[in-house]
Amino acid sequence: MKLSGKVAVVTGGARGIGYAIALRFASEGAKVCIFDVDARKLDEAVASIKQEAKSEVFGLVTDVSSVESVRKAVEEVVKKFGKIDVLVNNAAIHLGKPFHEEPLEYWEKQFRINVLGTVIPSQAVVPHMIKAGGGSIIHISSKAAITGEPGHAAYSALKGAILSLTLAMAADLAPYKIRVNAICPGPTETDLLYAATTEEDRKRMASRAPLGRLAKPADVAAAALYLASDDSSYVTGQKFVVDGGMTIAAVERI
Ligand SMILES: NC(=O)c1ccc[n+]([C@@H]2O[C@H](COP(=O)([O-])OP(=O)(O)OC[C@H]3O[C@@H](n4cnc5c(N)ncnc54)[C@H](O)[C@@H]3O)[C@@H](O)[C@H]2O)c1
Repeated sequence: MKLSGKVAVVTGGARGIGYAIALRFASEGAKVCIFDVDARKLDEAVASIKQEAKSEVFGLVTDVSSVESVRKAVEEVVKKFGKIDVLVNNAAIHLGKPFHEEPLEYWEKQFRINVLGTVIPSQAVVPHMIKAGGGSIIHISSKAAITGEPGHAAYSALKGAILSLTLAMAADLAPYKIRVNAICPGPTETDLLYAATTEEDRKRMASRAPLGRLAKPADVAAAALYLASDDSSYVTGQKFVVDGGMTIAAVERI
C-alpha cells in the first residue's frame, strides 16, 4: 500500500490512462477524486474502481480549462478529504493535421485544454499542498514532445510546453517540498490512440518499439505510482519516458 493515507486528484480519469492511474492509486490505498467532463464515463469509472479497489473514490464533472470549474472541484475535494497530496494532470485532447493545413483553432483548443488545463488545476491545488507541507504533481506529457508526432505539430509542441512547465514549476515549488515531474508515454492503447490510428498503424508503431508492443495504460500508471509515492521523494523536475524504448530506437536511426 504505497499511497496509504494520501489523497490524489486525477484529471481526465474517466477512461484510458487517467482511469488506470486512478485505479492503481486507489488500489495502493489512496483516496481518489477524478475530474472529467464526461459525466457518464465518470460515473462508470468511479463505480468500477470502487468495486475493484474498495477505496474511497468519487468523481466531479469538471472542465480543467475553466478556472471556476476547477476551483469549485478542488474546494470540494479538500472539504471531503481534508487535503490533496498528489495531482495528476492527465486530461487532454489530441487533434492534428499536417502542419501546413493545421488550423489555428487546433492550436488554440489544445493550448486551452492541454496546457492551461495543466496550469489551472496546479495553481488551484498548490496552495493546499503548501499548507500541508508538500506534495507531488505529475504532468502527462508525451513521447510526441521528444520526437514530434507526424500530423500533430500543435499537439507535439504543446506537450513540449508541458515539459518546460515541469522544469519551471519544479524549481519554483521545491522550497515548499512540492515535487513536479512529467511522464512521456509512447503510443498507449486507449480510445485516444484508436481514434487516431488504424490497426495497421498500430502494428507498425508496435514494431518500432524495441520491447515489441504498444504501452498499456497500466504501464503508465506504474510510473505515476512511483512519482506519486515517497519512493521518489528525491526526484523532481524530471521526465519519465514510458515508451518501450521507442525514443532510443529513433536516436539509433539518426
Ligand atoms: N494514448 C496515447 O497514445 C498517449 C500517448 C502519449 C500521451 N498521452 C497523453 O495521456 C493522457 C491521457 O490520454 P488517453 O489516451 O487516456 O486519452 P483519452 O482520450 O482516452 O482520455 C482523456 C480523458 O480526458 C477527458 N477530458 C478531455 N477534455 C477534458 C477537460 N477539458 N476537462 C476534463 N477532462 C477532460 C476525457 O473526457 C477523457 O476521459 C493525455 O494527456 C494524452 O495526451 C496519450
